[in-house]
Amino acid sequence: MQRVEPALMNTYSPFPVTFVRGSGCELYDAKGRRYLDCLGGIAVVSAGHANPEIAAAITDQANKLMHVSNIFLSEPMLSLAQRLRRSAGEWGQVFFCNSGAEANECAIKLVRKHGNPGRYKIVCAFNGFHGRTLATLAATGQPTKWQGFEPLPNGFVHVPFNDLAAFEEAVDAETVAVMVEPVQGEGGVVPATKDFLKGLRDLCDIRGLALIFDEVQSGMGRSGSWWAFQEYGVRPDIFTVAKGLANGLPIGACLAAEQWSQSFKPGDHGSTFGGGLMASRAALATLDFLESNGCLKNARERGAELSQALAGLPHLKEVRGLGLMIGAVLDQPRAKEVVKGVLEQGLVVNATSENVIRFLPPLVITSEQVQEAAAILGEFLKDHIR
Ligand SMILES: Cc1ncc(COP(=O)(O)O)c(C=O)c1O
Repeated sequence: MQRVEPALMNTYSPFPVTFVRGSGCELYDAKGRRYLDCLGGIAVVSAGHANPEIAAAITDQANKLMHVSNIFLSEPMLSLAQRLRRSAGEWGQVFFCNSGAEANECAIKLVRKHGNPGRYKIVCAFNGFHGRTLATLAATGQPTKWQGFEPLPNGFVHVPFNDLAAFEEAVDAETVAVMVEPVQGEGGVVPATKDFLKGLRDLCDIRGLALIFDEVQSGMGRSGSWWAFQEYGVRPDIFTVAKGLANGLPIGACLAAEQWSQSFKPGDHGSTFGGGLMASRAALATLDFLESNGCLKNARERGAELSQALAGLPHLKEVRGLGLMIGAVLDQPRAKEVVKGVLEQGLVVNATSENVIRFLPPLVITSEQVQEAAAILGEFLKDHIR
């Protein structure tokens, strides 16, 4: 049964289920019905639902100190910045915020400050997704999402993803940066090619531009490395993080190489809640958990298993992605119907377009759960799609 809520703004589709508790990759509704979660809160619940170690860290911090503001240094925020730097290979200065869009806003403001005066344009990809604030919506390469919100902030140029020549051509004397997702998530789980990202790196080096990778969805171990750019062997100048960083507490971060980060001076940017004690402790506990439980390796291995299991199913013409970020492409535009149908059979996934079914499970998913997910989808496709 789909629910519409009169107390809420009309921004989301009617809600199909209300979940009341979870454990690892499992979710339960109020009647106690079990669902296998292959969406993980849209790439957020990286360390699994109701993770006891993360719950303990949050509880401990709540009992000590919840908030002090960024007038004062907090130890968890500093430790988290150091951990993120280490995960990236010992580089990057960090700014903390509360969401993916805010992390990208930070990257946009940073390169604009750096380029000022004269250079402010950012070349982005069609079908890219960078958020819903006005600037990140303008960076998002999906014109249907712009409708009704114009005029948007200017300075964002869009060209086809994976088309290096188009990016080269779009750069002019006013360009300051290039911004892409290493794997387009909302755009249909489309991985960049290695040559494309390497070519962007060269282009940015030659033209003195910042290469910005939006790792909001692809990051935090989901690719099999901490950051998808490490899988590609292409280092950006700036990258952004959110979603899976604190396993469900709101947090975002923008990491920038010093050459770029030093453009900000006190007062240029800020956030009341950014880097707060609760979210930072949760993020540290999430990083600890993912590291000590081999979750990056699990993402790579279970991702390969899931891709293989899906590739054998009827009506799927392509299975693509990286690690545990997987898109299964239907041979007809019926993804929404399939997502609804498998939910009724106890499998949570979503549709990124008319024909792409997306899998973003917690990184703790087991081989048995991978097979269960493929079996539920396979049964549905066999019985309901002609
Ligand atoms: C690649 C990417 N960037 C940015 C965002 C925006 O993140 P948030 O919804 O936390 O603002 C998303 C959200 O789906 C995303 O997938």
